[in-house]
Amino acid sequence: MEHTQYFDVELAQNLVDHIAVELGQNVNITNHKGLIIASFNKNRIGMIHEVAEQKLKAGEYREFAVTEEEARQYRGVRSGVNVPVLYDDICYGFIGVTGDPVIAAPYARLAAKLVKAILCSIAHKERLSEAMRDNQRMRALLLNQMIRIQEEERKRISRELHDETSQSLTAVLLGLRALATSLGDETQKKRVLEMRDIVSEALSSVHYMAVRLRPILLDELGIRAAIAKYIETYQKRYNIKVSFISKNIQEGERFFPEIEISVYRIVQEALSNIVKHAEAKEIHVELTCESELLQLVIQDDGKGFDPDILEEYQVANNSLGIAGMQERTELLGGTFEITSAWKEGTRIVVEIPVKTNSRKEGNICGT
Ligand SMILES: Nc1ncnc2c1ncn2[C@@H]1O[C@H](COP(=O)(O)OP(=O)(O)O)[C@@H](O)[C@H]1O
Ligand SMILES: [Mg+2]
Repeated sequence: MEHTQYFDVELAQNLVDHIAVELGQNVNITNHKGLIIASFNKNRIGMIHEVAEQKLKAGEYREFAVTEEEARQYRGVRSGVNVPVLYDDICYGFIGVTGDPVIAAPYARLAAKLVKAILCSIAHKERLSEAMRDNQRMRALLLNQMIRIQEEERKRISRELHDETSQSLTAVLLGLRALATSLGDETQKKRVLEMRDIVSEALSSVHYMAVRLRPILLDELGIRAAIAKYIETYQKRYNIKVSFISKNIQEGERFFPEIEISVYRIVQEALSNIVKHAEAKEIHVELTCESELLQLVIQDDGKGFDPDILEEYQVANNSLGIAGMQERTELLGGTFEITSAWKEGTRIVVEIPVKTNSRKEGNICGT
């Protein structure tokens, strides 16, 4: 922690002013090089305390008195007592009290102790906030890792559903169709056709599930196409009108995969919240890329909610929808904002920084 070797000038001056008023004596503080950084006599600030400088250069971090003679000899010193401010084996400088050394010494020692206590508390605070930063970094790292693993797993299951389950169901479907045609008995034929319809429904559920888990379009064609497709299916399924506008994003334009998948998941969660909670008639989705910022806006005209009770609700219900959208955005260094009011709909604005090299056309991004 290199910077803590230097005294905070403002803090030093504050201390000096207080102690000097209490003592009725001039007090000053030099830094680790002997430069006077705080003094009750403001004219002395910026001068070199020559004796302190010599001691610091020689590594003599001990209390010393300045004699009248030295005070006459050097411009920057006054007669009095100077006590080193030592903390954690580092000498931060000297604190000096002017006057008769016998009277000044105990005050100078006390002042040095006080300064040391303050340094100790600052260091403690710094260590604490460093630990907190470490904690936060670790949390982000783990979260990132979790999201990555989850996405990989979804991709794998989706592929399996698509390639295997779907293929087998299609084979059964075709078999049943052929069987129905070959059957002469009308009742049996009807039964087989009913079975075929059930398989057909299962097939479309499997397909829907596979797409929900991991849209192949997202990997192949990018975010714009994937959102458009998702919205198309969503409108049909839930009968809600959704408009989708994308500005300044070319067809097939690619961003980093973690940006694409996060934006896609946010659209999914926001739209499923609208179905679940909003009773909306219309939804507007807008995706814009401008000045290295990808902006996603999702607005509905539904019943809205009171954002003030959201946190309480999230804790009580352990709900991760909105919190998850926010986490994902923040992991990418972006901002997430949700505004809502009772009967006035809900608006989500997500902004994610995208560097120019994360915007390229064609399929650049391996995970
Ligand atoms: N578009 C919306 N319209 C109305 N209410 C919403 C909307 N989105 C979220 N909410 C409210 O916010 C709450 C929290 O949402 P979320 O975190 O996704 O959790 P969950 O969907 O599991 O309840 C919801 O229960 C709902 O009351
Ligand atoms: Mg939700």
